[in-house]
Amino acid sequence: MTTLPKLIDPYARAITYLRVSVTDRCDFRCVYCMSENMTFLPKKELLSLEELDRLCSAFISQGVRKLRITGGEPLVRKNIMTFFKSISRHIETGDLDELTLTTNGSQLKRYAADLVACGVKRVNISLDTLDAEKFAKITRWGRLAQVLEGVDAALAAGLKVKINTVALKDDNQDELYKMLSWCADLGLDLTFIEVMPMGDIGNEDRLDQYWSLKDLRTELTTRYTLSDLSETTGGPARYVRLEETGQKVGFITPMSHNFCESCNRVRLTCTGQLFQCLGQEDEVDLRQVLRAHETDTPLVEAIHAAIALKPKGHDFDYSRQKIAGEMTRHMSHTGG
Ligand code: GTP
Ligand code: 5AD
Ligand code: SF4
Repeated sequence: MTTLPKLIDPYARAITYLRVSVTDRCDFRCVYCMSENMTFLPKKELLSLEELDRLCSAFISQGVRKLRITGGEPLVRKNIMTFFKSISRHIETGDLDELTLTTNGSQLKRYAADLVACGVKRVNISLDTLDAEKFAKITRWGRLAQVLEGVDAALAAGLKVKINTVALKDDNQDELYKMLSWCADLGLDLTFIEVMPMGDIGNEDRLDQYWSLKDLRTELTTRYTLSDLSETTGGPARYVRLEETGQKVGFITPMSHNFCESCNRVRLTCTGQLFQCLGQEDEVDLRQVLRAHETDTPLVEAIHAAIALKPKGHDFDYSRQKIAGEMTRHMSHTGG
């Protein structure tokens, strides 16, 4: 018997995917993501791990089948494994198809095996360069060796790894083939992302950073035959196969090609705000509803009311050499 999705938005999209940012903090300061001097939320503003569990469980009861834990860097949140352990019960009951995370990889050496024990099968690791100096420049605070150790630990623990690389004109344009062959050698999927206008990033200029994936794709065709694949992981990435090597490459193109018509997700912040779209200001305060009621019925009603207001899509636009549709909040607030 098939059960109908329970959360349907005004554009007839079934919402089955919840991304949860468990902290706005991070041990890196990537130049396209944060300014050098970020002010983070006071810890008392955060939802407790129990509250996060209650909220996620309410979404799962309403048909969410995939949960992605993000941040900031999710693995720097204190006692985060307690949360993973507890939420993994929904995998065991079959109510949740996938529990996964997007991480910068810095803490994976410590946590990869624990994540596997909690039912996590794959992780997305953000990595924009394989050059230690450039890595230090892009992340400001990060060390490449630590992330590479994290990748190794994830693979050794049996996790499937997808690398997310933000395409950055001056920083990793020259590393396209190096990244591809590194991923091919280790058996990692690779997805490129266009840089989006999210949050003030200090002195950096987004338009200077922006490398359109249309151009990246054209570059790839000079060496490979690209075949479009119809498969998806339920995310915005569109995949191609490089016929000569068999390698799969993904493209996330919010700027050059909008994928919002197939959006299946909403985002919860570490303070319990629900953002119905990454690229719009609309938000609903679920923390207040959660804390005001001991039973979940008002919470479930608030979730349905929020989904009924999900906007059609983002308005990001860099054409005319001008930034439009920019968001004031940083990516670390909503978890990418
Ligand atoms: P898979 O489950 O592997 O398909 O992952 P995913 O693409 O859903 O998640 P991931 O965290 O790897 O997402 C990669 C990046 O894609 C995010 O950090 C964002 O930059 C971007 N992205 C994901 N979802 C959206 C979305 O709904 N809108 C926009 N504009 N960008 C998104
Ligand atoms: N545009 C595109 N991707 C971004 N990320 C962070 N900020 C931006 C941005 N402005 C990516 C990170 C990571 C994910 C969580 O979001 O590289 O892959
Ligand atoms: Fe941290 Fe990820 Fe933002 Fe980099 S992109 S500063 S790793 S949250």
